[in-house]
Amino acid sequence: MKLITAYIRPEKLNDVKQALYAKEIYSMSVTNILGSGRQKGFTETYRGVQMEVNLLKKVRIEIGVNDDFEGAAIEAIQTSCATGSEGDGVIFVSELSKSLRIRTGEEGIL
Ligand SMILES: Nc1ncnc2c1ncn2[C@@H]1O[C@H](COP(=O)(O)OP(=O)(O)OP(=O)(O)O)[C@@H](O)[C@H]1O
Ligand SMILES: [Mg+2]
Repeated sequence: MKLITAYIRPEKLNDVKQALYAKEIYSMSVTNILGSGRQKGFTETYRGVQMEVNLLKKVRIEIGVNDDFEGAAIEAIQTSCATGSEGDGVIFVSELSKSLRIRTGEEGIL
């Protein structure tokens, strides 16, 4: 199993949701977050001095998937969220060692 964590532009949330549904991925968690990437959000110049690192509004999506859905999830996120401009976001993939459904106690099925 894999945990896919994606940081995307908030305005892409509906598009990414539809793209994931189209790949039969329905389970996800979504959080509003503040973040910065390589451009440090943005920097302002005051009297010739670069000041202040700002955090921009982004959305985090977390998706637990079986290994055979990893590629589909990544493709859905990348195709729906890429604009080609800086700030499109990142996707992290982690190994997920265990999953357990609280209602039934069943393990390993996501
Ligand atoms: N290394 C990181 N660790 C944690 N979160 C990150 C990391 N890189 C990016 N993020 C998250 O993703 C958001 C969008 O990042 P962003 O797309 O600007 O990344 P980037 O590496 O600067 O790429 P680009 O050059 O395309 O802008 C950030 O605001 C932050 O929330
Ligand atoms: Mg950036």
